[in-house]
Amino acid sequence: MYQPFKNLDITKKDPIILGIESSCDETAAAVIRGRKILSDEIASSAKIQALYGGVVPEIASRAHTDEVAAVVDRAIKNAGITYEEIDAVAVTYGAGLLGALLVGVSFAKAFAYALNKPLIAVNHIRGHLAAAYLDSPTLQPPFVTLLCSGGHTAILYAKSESEFEILGSTLDDAAGEAFDKVARVLGLQYPGGPNIENCAKDGTPCIPLPKMFKGGGGYNFSYSGLKTAVINYCHTKEQKGEPYSKADVASSFQCAAIDVLVQKTMDAVAEKGATTVTAGGGVAANTYLRTRLKEECEKRGLHLVLPEKRYCTDNASMIAAEGLVQFRLGNFADMSLNAKASIPLTKTLSEKGGV
Ligand code: KG4
Ligand code: ZN
Repeated sequence: MYQPFKNLDITKKDPIILGIESSCDETAAAVIRGRKILSDEIASSAKIQALYGGVVPEIASRAHTDEVAAVVDRAIKNAGITYEEIDAVAVTYGAGLLGALLVGVSFAKAFAYALNKPLIAVNHIRGHLAAAYLDSPTLQPPFVTLLCSGGHTAILYAKSESEFEILGSTLDDAAGEAFDKVARVLGLQYPGGPNIENCAKDGTPCIPLPKMFKGGGGYNFSYSGLKTAVINYCHTKEQKGEPYSKADVASSFQCAAIDVLVQKTMDAVAEKGATTVTAGGGVAANTYLRTRLKEECEKRGLHLVLPEKRYCTDNASMIAAEGLVQFRLGNFADMSLNAKASIPLTKTLSEKGGV
């Protein structure tokens, strides 16, 4: 373990962490003091990416290069702190688009080196899981957590802030990926998730679609069958020249995709005897998912902690939140830190297999 700062007090009350995120199309920086968010800045290239129907890696990298310095500067100014007050710089080092990650990692290394601050390498997924701690001073593991992002879907048991048991995960597409692919079939713009949600408001879940695993499959998921069923439904209707309601397709897909997430999360809660549930990742911004989780948790008397919608999709506050967890453990990175396109789901730099 790298420990460059001999006098660093990792038990310090409410350290100030600067978080930097650039794994996909959002250039983000945020400052937290303890679990409290002081500032949260995002510059997104999503509008340009929408013209191409998805994220073009080279466009994302160039946009990060253009934005990163200004976004970090804004985050520090809006937090009302000085550079000197920052206790550590946390940056996403993986997983994500390599060129995009490299911009954030290079910037964070230069920034930490110039200001003589400790550097913390954050696994993006651990950031999504840590988002639940933001502005939640009392949340403590153990709890069951539902991770549903564009690249991952899994149910995990958080034994502590830094130890996770993966109970199940997707065997093929991630939930967010399925939303994005179905959106494309319906002619809706990227990013698909919010557009499916909007379109579904005018529809009803009246189209029968396959229920994943029909209650089996443990805590694993499979979205490719559901996605194919939606594509087949639309193509068959088009071939027969029959009209169909996009809103009904969006609503039916949304229910099918989300009901299974909620059901399996509740099954995991029962098996683990957990009393607290959290969720993270872009799909956790979905109102239907949030409502269904609330209903099921209320029925069972469970404590549900959902990050605000803007902290479910990619942001830097969650990277700072996970940075705080790593700060407490004394897990710091050195200047050899490199970006990684792919890392195991919950591994950190300091853990075996983390790099
Ligand atoms: O966590 P995230 O921002 O990035 C990754 O780490 O992947 O997740 C992005 C995914 C996209 O697939 C997007 O379509 C989906 O989250 N998403 C949503 C919603 N907002 C974003 N899916 C369903 N409903 C939403 N409101
Ligand atoms: Zn993400």
